[in-house]
Formats: sequence, structure tokens, C-alpha cells
Amino acid sequence: MRPWSVAWSSAADLFWRRESPGDHFRTSVSDLLAERMIDELHLIDRRLANPPELTVLDVGAGNGELLRAIRACAPPDLLPRLRLMGLDLRPCPDADLEWIVARTPTASLPLGPVVGLVMAHEWLDEVPCDVVERDGDGHDRLVLVDDGGVEELGPSLTDVAACADLGVDSVAAVDWVARWWPLREVGDRAEVGVGRDRAWRWLTTLIADGTALASDYGHLVTQRLTDQRAGTLVGYRHGRVVHPVPDGRVNLTAHVAVDSCAAQVPGSTFHTQREMLSFVSTSPPVGATGPDRARHVARMSTLARLRDPAGPGAFYWLRWDRFA
Ligand SMILES: C[S@@+](CC[C@H](N)C(=O)[O-])C[C@H]1O[C@@H](n2cnc3c(N)ncnc32)[C@H](O)[C@@H]1O
Repeated sequence: MRPWSVAWSSAADLFWRRESPGDHFRTSVSDLLAERMIDELHLIDRRLANPPELTVLDVGAGNGELLRAIRACAPPDLLPRLRLMGLDLRPCPDADLEWIVARTPTASLPLGPVVGLVMAHEWLDEVPCDVVERDGDGHDRLVLVDDGGVEELGPSLTDVAACADLGVDSVAAVDWVARWWPLREVGDRAEVGVGRDRAWRWLTTLIADGTALASDYGHLVTQRLTDQRAGTLVGYRHGRVVHPVPDGRVNLTAHVAVDSCAAQVPGSTFHTQREMLSFVSTSPPVGATGPDRARHVARMSTLARLRDPAGPGAFYWLRWDRFA
């Protein structure tokens, strides 16, 4: 039996060594998202007075699909100055992109401070969490899990020595739960966001000048205390939600406490994906017929999916800017 953070971490290594994101779920990565990133790059470019090189670093880049889509739609004023880089646990299947294989967050990267855009799409929800549950005596207990997904309640979260023996920082977890996801009733569960807070902070430290953007399934404290009292940890396998089993055969994910991440880095803001995509043009190209018309229809269908408030439209985008 291990704490969820420990079991999840080794399961993720196993899973991502063998699996490709597209075989298990559909993310928001699309041509339309790439166009939205180009808007962001134009803003950064203007604020930095057209630097000779703009880096786009995609953390948790999958197979590099978003970087390729950005390259395909980059206008001539940007394209020659773009340095597109992917970072992932897995190597890129094609050699057409600059790529770093690394387990993040990490202290060292073969990369200087970034001037440009650091982005992460559906990466923060991959950062392993501990799970805590309120027991019948009113104690918040660390949830332990075996490789088959069977759980039992472990030590109280306030038991510093017992938690340390299991590799868990009790003090940080107790503080986090008290502030961001307090448990009230027997059986209430929280996913401790300390690791995600650190991951968001790390992402922003990569930037010398520019913007960090991370988008993900997320929640705010009001939602956690009402709709999310049982927690959000699930598994994904071949497009279906399944029981979360840390055996390396399912993708484990839990929503991100975006308000907590934002509070870790002064100046962070967050918006829903629906808001982020509110200024995308919906007009068909003038006089469009045939393939242009079909492209427009496909684009509008992608836009509707990405803005769906019951789906990806409810994702949150965390943002942080640093302009000297
Ligand atoms: C849900 S997929 C998202 C892929 C892509 N960004 C997209 O939106 O389609 C998560 C990606 O994060 C990578 N990943 C997970 N944990 C990681 C870690 N600790 N360090 C680096 N990459 C990680 C996985 O290998 C996978 O490619």
C-alpha cells in the first residue's frame, strides 16, 4: 500500500513510456487552438518590440501536434523568428521538432531563460496528488492504494513521522487542505494540490520575458466544497472514464485547483477556455464556396466543442506575464 502520489508517479512513468495521448483521449489541441496561440505570440511580440527570436516551449507536448499546428498557421512576420520546442517524458515520434525528454518539474533543462511563450495543455492534471479522506472520528487520513486500485485509510495527515515514512510532507499537505479544500463530513475527499502549485510556479520560472499559459480541467474552492466533495480522481483508457488503478495501464488524472496555483505566483490570473476563445472570428470567408466553406463548417464545429460549458469550455487557463 502506498500514498496516491507515490503510486501515481510510478504508474505515470509506466503509462507514458508505452502510450500515446491520442489513443486515450481527445484534448483541445487543434488548428483553432494554434491560431489562438498565434494571437498570444503577436501580443508578446509587440510587447517585446519584435525580438530576433521568439521561443514557444510546450511542456507535456504529447507528440508535438500543437507545435506543428502553430508552425502551419504562423504568419510570415512570425514564422522565421519562431523557435518551437517540445518537452515531454516521451521522445517525439518525428525528428522535425526540437525536443527535450525530461520529467518535470525539474531543476535543470538544456535551455536558457525563455523569451516568448511557455505553454502546457493538459499537463498540470497529470502532476501526481495525494488523496485525503475524512474518517468517522473527524480525522483527515492519507488514502493508501495498492497496484490493483484497492484503497485503505492510512495515517492521520497530522502524523508528521508516519507521513514522512511514506514520502509525504505532512505540514505542507495539512496547510494546503485547510486553506484550499477543507473536509467537513465523513467520506469527504480532497486531492492535495501542493505538487500542482509547485509545477505552476516552476513553469513561470522558465520565462525571462513573455507569457506562461497552462490549461486544464480545473475547479475553484466553491466547487470543491459543493460538487467535488468526493474528489475528481479518475482513470482514462481508450476514450472511456475508468476506475483509477495505478498499474500503468490507465491514465490517471484529477482536476487542478486553479485558484491555489494562481495564489502561488503573484500576478497569475485565470479564465475559462470559453472566455479565452470568445474573440475567435465566426464569420465565413467572404464568398466562400466548396472546400473553403467545408473548412469553415469544420472550424465552427471545433469552436463549439472547445467552448462547450459542459466540456472543454469549462477548462481553466492559468496565465502569467513577465515583461521587463
Ligand atoms: C494528457 S497528455 C497532453 C498532451 C498534449 N499537451 C495535448 O494537449 O494533446 C499529457 C502529456 O504530458 C506528458 N507528461 C506527463 N507527466 C509528465 C512529466 N512529469 N513530465 C513531462 N511530461 C509529462 C505525457 O507524456 C503526455 O504526453
